[in-house]
Amino acid sequence: MSENAIEIHDLVKKFGTLTAVNHVSFNIKKGEIFGLLGPNGAGKTTTINILLGLLQPTSGKVIVEGIDMQKNPVLAKGKVGIVTQETVVEPELTAEQNLMIFGRLYQIPSSELKEDIDFALDLADLKEFRNKLAGTFSGGMKRRLETAKALMHAPELLLLDEPTTGLDIQNRTRIWSLLRDINKKHNVTILLTTQYLEEADQLCNRIGIVDHGKLIALGTPTELRQKIGMSNVIEVSADKDNLQKVAAVFKKVDLEPQVLTNKVIAPTGSNAVGKVEALIKAITAAKVPISNISMHEPTIDDVFLKLTGSGARDTTGEYQGSARTALWRGRR
Ligand SMILES: Nc1ncnc2c1ncn2[C@@H]1O[C@H](COP(=O)(O)OP(=O)(O)OP(=O)(O)O)[C@@H](O)[C@H]1O
Ligand SMILES: [Mg+2]
Repeated sequence: MSENAIEIHDLVKKFGTLTAVNHVSFNIKKGEIFGLLGPNGAGKTTTINILLGLLQPTSGKVIVEGIDMQKNPVLAKGKVGIVTQETVVEPELTAEQNLMIFGRLYQIPSSELKEDIDFALDLADLKEFRNKLAGTFSGGMKRRLETAKALMHAPELLLLDEPTTGLDIQNRTRIWSLLRDINKKHNVTILLTTQYLEEADQLCNRIGIVDHGKLIALGTPTELRQKIGMSNVIEVSADKDNLQKVAAVFKKVDLEPQVLTNKVIAPTGSNAVGKVEALIKAITAAKVPISNISMHEPTIDDVFLKLTGSGARDTTGEYQGSARTALWRGRR
């Protein structure tokens, strides 16, 4: 038996002239919580859809729980639970009825169905809402109900496409603890996509960062942080005309500047406060006019800036995978 729950070999998916997945290869080990992290249009949903056998790859192959998805999709699909990017609970049905329909679809025998529903509702912490209409649920509750649904046929692998996008922090942490339980107590391997570095960081054993269809980094959260070499980020805003002068001052105090449209940023390294002090002194001495100076923890944008040399962006493809507001956008 392979130790991998998922193997992705040189995967390519083209939509016309657009390459949504561009020669991606990586494995997910059994028992892992793996996060695929990337901005809008990075190719996350496309990858998930290929793993589910819903889309055919242009080239390359995916092995799910040891089964070649293209050769034996029905067998492979039986081993996977899915929570899609768009919420798909039936609003007119109760939580229990939603699960019941799904259980029947998966041909769970009636004798076992009640027990399975009890188990799923309990896991998702929705027992007291079993007879309430799903349409009345909050976004977080709907997400938990969908996760419960995805577990009804006892899959070995759970795929979740942006399970917490749009949820507030309380609901997000609840989903995280649900996923940890599913993973630890019930031995389910988890692959989730996310736009949040924090989520990948807190929840995932390993993270793959995708951008423009390419896998640009892969590793544990610690490895990735080491890779980007950031403890904190200093940023100095100034008029466009002065940005190069600001960057020169950064270099004087041994900071590696990156010049953006209206600011200069740099990772601080270990002595963050000392670096900020040195930078303020050097800027004052050089008499370069600036409008703001600040320090912050690295955000996902900083990781991307470091790895790709460009800021967060919108997609340019004609097709937009989802109409929901992307939290990613407009951060800078
Ligand atoms: N069926 C399709 N036809 C044409 N283009 C598509 C199709 N599906 C996706 N795309 C394009 O492929 C690229 C990757 O899209 P995908 O939905 O996989 O990104 P994503 O990482 O899931 O983004 P988001 O965070 O917005 O969900 C985008 O440029 C998108 O417009
Ligand atoms: Mg998507």
